[in-house]
Amino acid sequence: MAEITHIVDVQLTEEDLSDALRADVLRGLTGPRKWLPSKWFYDARGSKLFEAITELPEYYPTRTERTLLRHCADAIAAAAAEAGELIELGSGSSEKTRLLLTALSTHGSLKSYLPQDVSESALRAAAEWINAEFPALAVHGVVSDFTSMLPGLPRGGRRIIVLLGGTIGNLTPAERSEFFRCVHDGLEPGEQLLLGVGLVTDPAVMVPAYDDAAGVTAEFNRNILRVLNNRLGADFEPDRFAHIAVWDAEHEWIEMRLEATADMSVTIADLDLVVDFTAGEQLRTEISAKFRLAGLHAELDAARLGVQHSWTDPDDRFALVLAARR
Ligand code: SAH
Ligand code: TRP
Repeated sequence: MAEITHIVDVQLTEEDLSDALRADVLRGLTGPRKWLPSKWFYDARGSKLFEAITELPEYYPTRTERTLLRHCADAIAAAAAEAGELIELGSGSSEKTRLLLTALSTHGSLKSYLPQDVSESALRAAAEWINAEFPALAVHGVVSDFTSMLPGLPRGGRRIIVLLGGTIGNLTPAERSEFFRCVHDGLEPGEQLLLGVGLVTDPAVMVPAYDDAAGVTAEFNRNILRVLNNRLGADFEPDRFAHIAVWDAEHEWIEMRLEATADMSVTIADLDLVVDFTAGEQLRTEISAKFRLAGLHAELDAARLGVQHSWTDPDDRFALVLAARR
């Protein structure tokens, strides 16, 4: 008998992506303090480099979250036993999600999985293996930007939204509260949100996770310049930018930057734009906020997302937080 197989819905075409990138580049590279939104790391090469980061000895978040999920997947499934649909934002490889899908379909009533990512290549690969491994699950991938997807969330069975990998920390505090508000508005009372977040810990542990000895993170950071070269006909020389990761103790986030190693003039052909860099000038590419549980619980509560349970690893480096919409 023919089965309903997985489908991937491309809501962001190549053209949409280039339009959005043009707008972000105009906004980010023409002001006095240069910056670029971090979703532009993730073309096919960027997604592969991120996968390589998750396997680095210094990058503790992925394996800590995976171990944590292994320990508490059954407890999450018990607390989300009625969830029929799991919507995962920024799902990437979906590798750790396997643990949740197994628990929620064996102990719960999970019927469908909606992975969502801005990276079409990562999403297609994930939809394929999940479909093979979970034949009873309807898999429906969506290529879109999660910040604009929440208002139009599909309505199926009872939903649980999942955002793993500390990705919530890549939003600014203002974007984060907007995100929580949209999650609240997109859900019905009782529907849930599961967040995987990095916790504030020793900077000697946190900083190397974003500045590894092998230089993979540096290459990932510089990939954003290659994306501008490929998509907008820019002529960045990525190797002339140094990777910088610093712990900002005031904001409690890791900040990633690219520093020009010399004076440079970069042409962005598709925008008819020339951008000048002076030696030592920095371009901000990413923040990765780390949390304290009490503060995060208060933020969720302010968005009327009531925390039901939090789980942390023995070293208090990472947490999974389950909340329900009030
Ligand atoms: N959830 C995976 C991947 C985390 S990396 C894990 O835990 O390992 C962040 C992921 O979010 C990447 O796959 C990236 O492509 C995606 N992403 C980043 N910004 C996004 C956005 N604005 N909209 C949709 N996906 C985004
Ligand atoms: N969500 C990941 C994190 O904050 C993204 C990430 C990991 C990242 N390493 C990076 C982003 C290096 C930019 C540069 O941990």
